[in-house]
Amino acid sequence: MVLGAEDWKIGFIGGGNMAGAIIGGVTSCGKISPHRIFVYDRHSEKLDSLKQKYGVNSAESDVDVAKICDIIFLAVKPQNFTDLLRSLKHTVTEKKVFVSIAAGISSEFIAKSLSCRCPVVRAMPNTPLLLGKGATAVSKTENVPRDVFVFIRSLFECCGTVSVIDESQMDAIVSVGGSSPAYVYLFVKSVIDSAVGQGIDSGTAFDIICQTICGSVEMLKKSGRTPEELIKMVSTKGGTTAAAVDVFKKEHFEDIIDDAMKACTARTKELGL
Ligand SMILES: NC(=O)c1ccc[n+]([C@@H]2O[C@H](COP(=O)([O-])OP(=O)(O)OC[C@H]3O[C@@H](n4cnc5c(N)ncnc54)[C@H](OP(=O)(O)O)[C@@H]3O)[C@@H](O)[C@H]2O)c1
Repeated sequence: MVLGAEDWKIGFIGGGNMAGAIIGGVTSCGKISPHRIFVYDRHSEKLDSLKQKYGVNSAESDVDVAKICDIIFLAVKPQNFTDLLRSLKHTVTEKKVFVSIAAGISSEFIAKSLSCRCPVVRAMPNTPLLLGKGATAVSKTENVPRDVFVFIRSLFECCGTVSVIDESQMDAIVSVGGSSPAYVYLFVKSVIDSAVGQGIDSGTAFDIICQTICGSVEMLKKSGRTPEELIKMVSTKGGTTAAAVDVFKKEHFEDIIDDAMKACTARTKELGL
């Protein structure tokens, strides 16, 4: 790895949704100039689109990215990792730092497959990253140099918030951050469906529930009160909100969330390597 962060070249193998979101975030916040980014995807149309949109360089192959770049994002699906790492094995040295955004792929597996104790940062972002509003959890192996980790962390900070966790929590964190946007969308869809069933038009219901979620999140962050306290504040005994919350409780809403999140973690482990 060359000397200063301002010289490091950043590579992406896989140019899909997540790579596009991260590239969009880091280039639009000015953290890194597009000419220092090299991307390879096996679909040339995805590569062309990233070049056109962000002005990044395209690489000839996955091996090419590994040769050129100091920090290499592995942005392919978990099922593509074995083939990809096999292909990179003869190119990499311990000077290359890998950033894996795949669910369930351990740093141990990456090092073993590459036959190299390359420094590895694991990251679990989520799709609101596309709008600079993502929540990313990151962990690192011990041999990631401090300045490189600070730099990688700052790339994700361009795209939202970053939480540093231990790698042992990386599978469970998928259920908290990676997959949780879908829980919110399901909740919103359910509210809209019920509203429409009660004669309210879907656009009005959409506007109200989206604004309510934004406002409630601000309350959670700024009021200094716990979720339980905020529920109590809006649930007068015998009142309308209490009637709704009672149904959630009777139907074991919290147990459903717990079961769903545990299923997500279990699936991450099943898919993991
Ligand atoms: N989407 C999310 O919400 C989310 C959230 C957190 C983390 N992640 C993780 O982010 C990673 C990427 O997800 P994504 O949604 O961006 O996937 P995606 O849109 O499918 O992008 C991956 C791209 O990489 C290509 N590819 C596969 N192997 C390659 C190789 N050896 N060389 C070059 N290109 C290759 C794929 O081609 P093919 O389609 O032909 O395979 C595809 O175009 C996954 O590991 C996922 O677990 C995703």
